Amino acid sequence: MKNISNNQVVVEIQNLGMNGEGVARFNGKVLFIPFALKGEIVLAEIVKNKSNFAIGKIIEILKSSQYRIKPQCPYFMECGGCSLQHLKYNQQLDFKTNLVCETIQKICKISVNVCSCVPSLLDFNYRNKITLYFGLLNNKVILGYYHEKTKNLISIEECYLAPSWFMIVIKTIIDFVDSNNIRIYNYLNKTGYLKGVSVKIVGTSILITFISFSKINLKVNLLVDELINKLKLYKINNVSIFLNVNSKEDTNFLTTENYVIYGNNFVDYNQFGLTNKIGNLSFCQVNNDIKDKLYHSVLEQINNDDFVIDAFSGTGQLSALLATKAKKVIGIEIVKQAWESAEILKKENGLFNLENINGDCEIVLPQLLQNLNLLHKNNYVDAGSRNNQCNNVRDGFFNNYFEVKNDKSVNKNTGNIVLVLDPPRVGVLDNVLKAINKCSQKNNNSLVKINKIIYISCNPVSLAKNLNSLLENFKIEKIVPFDMFPQTSKVETLVILKSR
Ligand SMILES: C[S@@+](CC[C@H](N)C(=O)[O-])C[C@H]1O[C@@H](n2cnc3c(N)ncnc32)[C@H](O)[C@@H]1O
Repeated sequence: MKNISNNQVVVEIQNLGMNGEGVARFNGKVLFIPFALKGEIVLAEIVKNKSNFAIGKIIEILKSSQYRIKPQCPYFMECGGCSLQHLKYNQQLDFKTNLVCETIQKICKISVNVCSCVPSLLDFNYRNKITLYFGLLNNKVILGYYHEKTKNLISIEECYLAPSWFMIVIKTIIDFVDSNNIRIYNYLNKTGYLKGVSVKIVGTSILITFISFSKINLKVNLLVDELINKLKLYKINNVSIFLNVNSKEDTNFLTTENYVIYGNNFVDYNQFGLTNKIGNLSFCQVNNDIKDKLYHSVLEQINNDDFVIDAFSGTGQLSALLATKAKKVIGIEIVKQAWESAEILKKENGLFNLENINGDCEIVLPQLLQNLNLLHKNNYVDAGSRNNQCNNVRDGFFNNYFEVKNDKSVNKNTGNIVLVLDPPRVGVLDNVLKAINKCSQKNNNSLVKINKIIYISCNPVSLAKNLNSLLENFKIEKIVPFDMFPQTSKVETLVILKSR
């Protein structure tokens, strides 16, 4: 490191940090420099200088990395979405493999082998859903992203993460809003309507959701005609339009106040040989190719006689796939709408070995594990006497969702009990971990043991913390990162754990 002036330094980048930024040392502390690459020597300006870390901004790259490439997107560095577009794709994959490995090693204080990150078939144009926000620039309607850090709205005309035809959709929507004089919501004086628009691609259909501060009457027939006309070249032949009302003054996310204003509530989508009905609010993994690879890797881990609990099951797409192979699958999902989609999926495909529970894993999973154990101990006593013994279950949950009178799914001849965990970014909460550990301890008197955990994570830090809690009773068998989000520093990870 060389000090050039009070706030300028020349440093060598030693590594990449969690968010893909360059990491160097400066006056004995860590210096984060966004968009600098490992091995580069840069002249940087210190823009933030805290007691334990500093943040720098590149002024000049004095020695460039052999892996640096010219970013494709004109908004790179500005919009804050893609933090790795300047790094060759193979090196992005190496970065993600190392990130997962180092995070787990650091937090769990163990040495682990991590498989190479599974590449995405498309490293651009892979996203099946994009949400943009409305604003005004010189009195003209714009759509853009809010920069993650500055919170400024960055107007964009195209996004390289979406399909190439996405720019047509953006322009057509802006023209529609402009020509109909629909007012954009103003966060300062709390007037107007439109906050954002979310576009979701499901097969040959697009689902467009306008996010509005209050309910408005949108006449969208011409918009639909225009989109169908312009997009038929790209094999889009169906458009559904929704209005989603978010009447909170300062937020712009999708809520449950949702109206279909053109087309169908759900569109049919066939995947893995199963008929799905997908709505504008249904959670879907954003990268179809990686979703397929990830789900099939999970399926490979399941045997025909397994009893599977799929915790955090969303719209039940993975649970349904697993039910085509396992003996019995129970999905647990907190969002009612997602659970309803999972129920439709189950019925449409006649998956009678699948139960979808609408509930909180924190409550349902410990209860379910406890009930499985009681059931096992009592060796299938009839439902009445079993209920007397399960006096902790008063809400009918056991009867409604786990009525197994003649169902010998969980018995002494049953295969493994496999727990799939796919939590949101925060990871699995302590109560759930406690329940898992409780029924997995070697020397406790629990008869039912979880033999395998399949953990899918979108956050290496919460993953590593959760693994740390599970390591007493489980050992890591396999860790595979998947590149669900190319060009960004985000990574999806699959971990297979076996009971000790
Ligand atoms: C990362 S998504 C996984 C969805 C699904 N496994 C898939 O692949 O489509 C996490 C899901 O967990 C649900 N969720 C969040 N907290 C929950 C909780 N405490 N109990 C049950 N489900 C929860 C969310 O609504 C969301 O659908």
